[in-house]
Amino acid sequence: MTKDEIIQKHQTYLWKCITTYYKDPLVIDRAKGQYVYDVDGRQYLDFLGGIVTISVGHSNEKVTKKIKEQIDRVQHTSTLFPTEAIVALAEKVAQIAPRQLKKCYFTNSGTEANEVAVLAARMFTGNYELLALRHGYSGHSQLTKSLTGLHTWRKAGVIPYGIVLAPGPYCYRCPYGLTYPSCELHCAKDVEEVIKTSTCGAVAGMLAETIQGLGGFIVPPPGYFKIVATIVRNYGGLFIADEVQAAWGRTGKKWWGIEHWEVEPDIITSAKSMANGVPIGLTLTRPEIADAYKGLTISTFGGNPVACVAAKATIDLIEEERLMDNAHEMGNRFNAGLQALKEKHAIIGDVRGMGLMQGIELVKDRATKEPGTELATRFMERSRANGLIVGRGGLYANVIRMSPPLNIGKADIDEGLRMIDKSLTEVAA
Ligand SMILES: Cc1ncc(COP(=O)(O)O)c(C=O)c1O
Repeated sequence: MTKDEIIQKHQTYLWKCITTYYKDPLVIDRAKGQYVYDVDGRQYLDFLGGIVTISVGHSNEKVTKKIKEQIDRVQHTSTLFPTEAIVALAEKVAQIAPRQLKKCYFTNSGTEANEVAVLAARMFTGNYELLALRHGYSGHSQLTKSLTGLHTWRKAGVIPYGIVLAPGPYCYRCPYGLTYPSCELHCAKDVEEVIKTSTCGAVAGMLAETIQGLGGFIVPPPGYFKIVATIVRNYGGLFIADEVQAAWGRTGKKWWGIEHWEVEPDIITSAKSMANGVPIGLTLTRPEIADAYKGLTISTFGGNPVACVAAKATIDLIEEERLMDNAHEMGNRFNAGLQALKEKHAIIGDVRGMGLMQGIELVKDRATKEPGTELATRFMERSRANGLIVGRGGLYANVIRMSPPLNIGKADIDEGLRMIDKSLTEVAA
């Protein structure tokens, strides 16, 4: 099919709500390593990876080899039948997981992983009400929409049964008008007031992204999670770290983003880059929480052998090639380059991120911090024209999000920075 035919059929046969980037949608034909290619054969440096999903490069041969072998062995079983693939992955995850988190529940997506986590927290604690954060994103189901703190992703009268959203740790636009560290982490301490005023005083838990992804790569200040987890536990709840974006070494040096803050969550959820683009979801917890999950449960495709083999191969590769260290080093190089661009381009209000999860928040005016939504629209178009794919997010859709694969090299980071610089210059012109 030609590009025009694909776009026309997309409009005809898919739901309108299935949004695509760019005025002229980019129709991807194939991908390899750090590059994707459109149907006309044009190459793009991919600094988004689907959505923070490609961890070891597109169509990584070591991963696809295992996938192909598994397809020929057994492609589907459902969770009713144990396979070597599911237990090998579960064992591997347990080996690299924070100390007490040893039990895996596999599903197909981050949305499902969060659904399972919330149900588990409710069953284990016997409490119903649950906290989440403003600016967070948790998925596309009813429950996960109600956990989401971004109005654009909460349409159609989502009814947040038992969900309370606390103000988030968004330092660049502090909801309390304070500045770190003189704020003394007021946003974290205020979670207690939120529990006391907006719940019955006993909660099932709190679900929070380690770094808020769709919210615009918002990185909480040091100390935030320690305070929040303690408060939530004091009121009977579990602390659930949503690591759908931040796990598997992306934040550098550590497997899990939350490890940077020295907090052991009660539950971790993940998905996305876990299997380098093959659909999978994970809810990871302590044995006693897993055992409290009552009633029959089944996931037809959860723990699918092909997905499990892909995930295990991806994790093994990250380990063997020390890609967590590379994410740290390349992340520092990328961040330093973006900070230098901030000196040059007044439309960059903030640069933030960890490892290979880096964002720039665009503003019309640095003094007022008026969001540069239209600037971000133009940036998306210019960067695409210059051969670079990036993501977009934030409550005001003014944050450019970048997440290159963990095996990216110096030359590509520098090339990406050069394209960003050029695109910013064109946007400001
Ligand atoms: C932090 C976070 N949680 C949950 C989800 C939902 O994951 P999925 O799209 O796989 O259902 C996403 C997706 O972007 C996410 O970023």
